[in-house]
Amino acid sequence: MKLLLLGSGGREHALGWKIAQSPLIEQLYIAPGNVGTQTLGQNIAIDPCDFTALKEFCCKNEVTVVVVGPEAPLVQGVYDSFKADDSTKHITVIGPSKKGAQLEGSKEFAKAFMQKYNIPTAKYKSITQNNIEEGFEFLESLKAPYVLKADGLCAGKGVLILDSLDEAKSELQEMLSGRFGQASTTVVIEEFLSGIECSVFVLTDGIDYKILPVAKDYKRIGEGDTGLNTGGMGSISPVHFADEVFMEKVRTRIVEPTVHGIQKENIDYLGFIFVGVISVDNEPMVIEYNVRMGDPETESVMLRIKSDLVELFQGIQDGTLQDKKLVEDQRHAACVVMVSGGYPEEFKNGYEITGTESTNPDTLVFHSGTKSQGETILTNGGRVLAVSSYGKTMQEALNNSYQKAKEINFKDKYFRTDLGFDLK
Ligand code: AMP
Ligand code: GLY
Repeated sequence: MKLLLLGSGGREHALGWKIAQSPLIEQLYIAPGNVGTQTLGQNIAIDPCDFTALKEFCCKNEVTVVVVGPEAPLVQGVYDSFKADDSTKHITVIGPSKKGAQLEGSKEFAKAFMQKYNIPTAKYKSITQNNIEEGFEFLESLKAPYVLKADGLCAGKGVLILDSLDEAKSELQEMLSGRFGQASTTVVIEEFLSGIECSVFVLTDGIDYKILPVAKDYKRIGEGDTGLNTGGMGSISPVHFADEVFMEKVRTRIVEPTVHGIQKENIDYLGFIFVGVISVDNEPMVIEYNVRMGDPETESVMLRIKSDLVELFQGIQDGTLQDKKLVEDQRHAACVVMVSGGYPEEFKNGYEITGTESTNPDTLVFHSGTKSQGETILTNGGRVLAVSSYGKTMQEALNNSYQKAKEINFKDKYFRTDLGFDLK
């Protein structure tokens, strides 16, 4: 199989690492890829949102499967674009259609979908300038804190959690007046849910599905989950509270009705569903859907899939997903993200990175914000490297990654050393 992977982050390096191990792979291409992925296949300088160039490349190079890493091409309709063209409609795009991508691209769409299919989630109301008074009334009916979400994609910044009612009301007004541009012309107000979160990943062909290993990510920059939100400072898998009983509830109350709803709505959906789940007194509820794998969860989850991931993609391609097995690795996995000092605010690029070569077979160094200059690797982003390890326990996996993160050097490097603190 000739497979094209779209994206350029740590998530794509981890996906590529797993895909490249498959005996089914004849050739792996990554567009645009990164310093790490070039050791696994061939990086191609095409923007994942340039559908014309992608289709031309796939035809010329006999690519039969395209795996989409990030959400932007999905929300912009990469799946539909391939299907609309006679020369590319035979290609399997692992990722939902534009309609399906609305589960991530529109909070309002996702909430209405959950309500329709009785999927447990926070109470909500969808507000525009036209019914702002209803928004104020709904806020008054809720208890603090107040959750406001921009309807559209905001690179993870569109959710505000506010302590006072006055603040919530004025923020609602601000958002509707364009605080996040077009993305916040509709705002979803939600009841606040209190609990602990985990990330559940599902691979589906729209009919059958497989649940991948569960992970938990750590979003805040500071130890003890303090400070600003980031793209993700690390992840662990498995997650102890997501035990068999909890996951059976997730399967029957969330995953099955989600896949059923996708069918009922006639949505073409071959790909990953990422369900952000919160455990409220051991009852799972949905915080959000994403239509792709998570980053940095993927950098833990890929380590814990023992089966051939490409065989699952093939199952999606030929309608035999239900016959395929997904076997989990029983070891623990942990990912520690090394960032540039200053991130998620201002930081500098271009510092030399040393010590990335692997010394421990249980540890992998995935690239995210790096670039190469001759033989030298330089920092080139906020999140620089994702250091992932196996261990017999969560702490052993984390310690392996911390050890490697200490050996890797670049100016102003920073990483959290307390991951998993809330699971002990
Ligand atoms: P989202 O982009 O919808 O995942 O929201 C970002 C983060 O805000 C989530 O990961 C949660 O930690 C938090 N959050 C979102 N919605 C709620 C809610 N209804 N109750 C409590 N926390 C929430
Ligand atoms: N780790 C959360 C995300 O990928 O959105």
